[in-house]
Amino acid sequence: MGNPDNYTLQRALDAMCDVPGSDSALQARFSVALQHFHAMLDELKLTDEQLYRIAGWLGKVAAQDELVMLCDMMGLTMRALDLARTDGHATPQNVTGPFPKDQVAEGPNPCYIATEDEPGQRLEVRGRVLDASTGRPIPGATLIVWQPNQFGRYENEDDSQSEDNLRGKLRCDAEGAFDVFTVRPGGYVIGHDDTEVGVLMKRLGRNRQRAPHIHYRVMHPGYRTLTSQIYFKGDPANPVDCIFSAIEDHIVNIVPHPERKGYQLVELEVVVEPEPKR
Ligand SMILES: [Fe+2]
Repeated sequence: MGNPDNYTLQRALDAMCDVPGSDSALQARFSVALQHFHAMLDELKLTDEQLYRIAGWLGKVAAQDELVMLCDMMGLTMRALDLARTDGHATPQNVTGPFPKDQVAEGPNPCYIATEDEPGQRLEVRGRVLDASTGRPIPGATLIVWQPNQFGRYENEDDSQSEDNLRGKLRCDAEGAFDVFTVRPGGYVIGHDDTEVGVLMKRLGRNRQRAPHIHYRVMHPGYRTLTSQIYFKGDPANPVDCIFSAIEDHIVNIVPHPERKGYQLVELEVVVEPEPKR
């Protein structure tokens, strides 16, 4: 990789020495980063002025607290989650997003996270939490859900919603079952016009649409915490989701509810992997 005439790269690589306090694992990783950064510099023929402009821009992104969004829109988050996957039988992790609240009050199971006057299509999401190694239900697992309203707004960014609206925490029953009553969420746009990432996306001609989804997290002692999302089959925004997270593994069937008039139904099996034994 890189230009063979790049003696500065070679010197930067050689400058990392095995001395007291040095970290060989970090050196190995930093070597990879150095080679990629130099290759990019070579290919784009960046001047020092352009290089420092990029560094300054990253500083502005950090000041706007949008570094994670930058990783998301570049597809880096989804790729990293893919690389971190350790059990092909378990439900894959998906992007956490900026709005989880683990401290939300625990409610009963079934859990009603939408009030009666919440506008939108009524939806029941029910299912079980299973062990990836045995396929058996996990009794008592904690499930946390959070989602935007039908207009694509989360409660913490919308003064018209009450605290913890469309958020819930419950414990699965003895059969690992959970049942959540809610409304169907709307999609939303990321990257506001006045932020660096938003402006970047606009200039790149990038769609900024997030497909409608519900976030969830499953926690239980002895199991790797799962943070994931569900997307709805047939939604036209799935293929164009701007952080590339509406993938087949997370798209669920949504059907008219066979027992509840006016409701739609999603049935979900969430499979979590045991923590590795030490
Ligand atoms: Fe979200």
